[in-house]
Amino acid sequence: MRIEKQRYTERFGSIKIHDVQKVLELDSGRKANSPLKEAIAVDKIEEDAIKGIEEKMAVVIPTKNEKLKLFEGVISGVPHECLIIVVSNSERKQTDRFVMEEDTLEQFCHYTQRKALIIHQKDTVLTQALAQAEYTGLLEDNGKAVRDGKSEGMVIGLLMAMLAGKEYVGFVDADNYFPGAVWEYVKCYAAGFSTSLSPYTMVRILWRYKPKVSGEVYFRKWGRVSETTNKCLNSLISAKTGFETDIIKTANAGEHAISMKLAKILPYASGYAVEPQELVALFEDFGGVLPVANQQIARQGIEIFQMESRNPHFHEDRGTMHLRSMLLQGLSTVYHSPLCGDVTKRMIAKELVTQRVLGRGEKPAKPHINYPPNKKNIENFTNFMAEHLDSYSVLKE
Ligand code: GDP
Ligand code: CO
Repeated sequence: MRIEKQRYTERFGSIKIHDVQKVLELDSGRKANSPLKEAIAVDKIEEDAIKGIEEKMAVVIPTKNEKLKLFEGVISGVPHECLIIVVSNSERKQTDRFVMEEDTLEQFCHYTQRKALIIHQKDTVLTQALAQAEYTGLLEDNGKAVRDGKSEGMVIGLLMAMLAGKEYVGFVDADNYFPGAVWEYVKCYAAGFSTSLSPYTMVRILWRYKPKVSGEVYFRKWGRVSETTNKCLNSLISAKTGFETDIIKTANAGEHAISMKLAKILPYASGYAVEPQELVALFEDFGGVLPVANQQIARQGIEIFQMESRNPHFHEDRGTMHLRSMLLQGLSTVYHSPLCGDVTKRMIAKELVTQRVLGRGEKPAKPHINYPPNKKNIENFTNFMAEHLDSYSVLKE
């Protein structure tokens, strides 16, 4: 594929935040033998390089009661070399939706001869393994079950990817309408990782258009929630550097990928606060304003890529209440960061009141934050799960 080169990068302590890079060409043809004339402005990522990264990547699909047809489409869009990991929190009572997901995945893997893992968020062996790792923040009900939530599903997927020995983990929502978009997201992840100079890398997707259907289709550029979260996160940075910035354009990017080395040191906030919180945590730990969390990592630097996909992002519309809670949860992580100054706090409070999420004078509640995997006893988790891995594999050896 061909993507725009990183033309502009902002630095915040040891973190490099690259401005948005557009996808120019989804398929860039055969490997060139002669030097590229366009190389000054364009990166051509060769098929082989992409496949090389995909081989080392797990694609985690968190899902909860999504339409089976959507799920089926999403898995068909994941490039062949990637390991699919489905973490489901779907209903198991009246209709066993999880079994339906398992069946769908199994049939797909059978006919495409590929590997996949599928696990239910409330799986009892999983709960035991997390207890062994003392990952109590992920558990509720006195350690008897894993908490609900997409973010908790993401952490489980991440741990499973570690168990499978993967170097990169990418997240893709199960409610994506276009399999082609899923395919492109993963290509973008691979392009980011292959151009990064640091082992600590994150690639976040920016959608070119997010269509809204109300009578006729309208191709919106930004959603209101992302616009507001980006603005507040940029304000947090601006207040610290003294220079106004709009570099963050992917604060709410559900579609994103992380190198395993970076994923291990990140905390994961519950619910829909997870994506902005990853950035907030990096700014706290490596922004150079607060004490640096790890000198050795700071020396190697952290790179954040923001890639603009060609496919429009089209997913399930869950209505205003869902958007409001996303906004509240996302902004609460910014609000409660020790980096957040009064100006940004006032901005957040004002937005939440104008968008009718909170009343005047109310403050957002502190988010629940799950510890980074490397603060937990991951070896205990992997040792325990390794014995049971076969039962989560879709194609048995
Ligand atoms: P949005 O796209 O950010 O508005 O959020 P969605 O509600 O579409 O959720 C994103 C993804 O997370 C979808 O694939 C959901 O099915 C999935 N999801 C939501 N809640 C949970 C959960 O409790 N556990 C898991 N494993 N996945 C969840
Ligand atoms: Co969605």
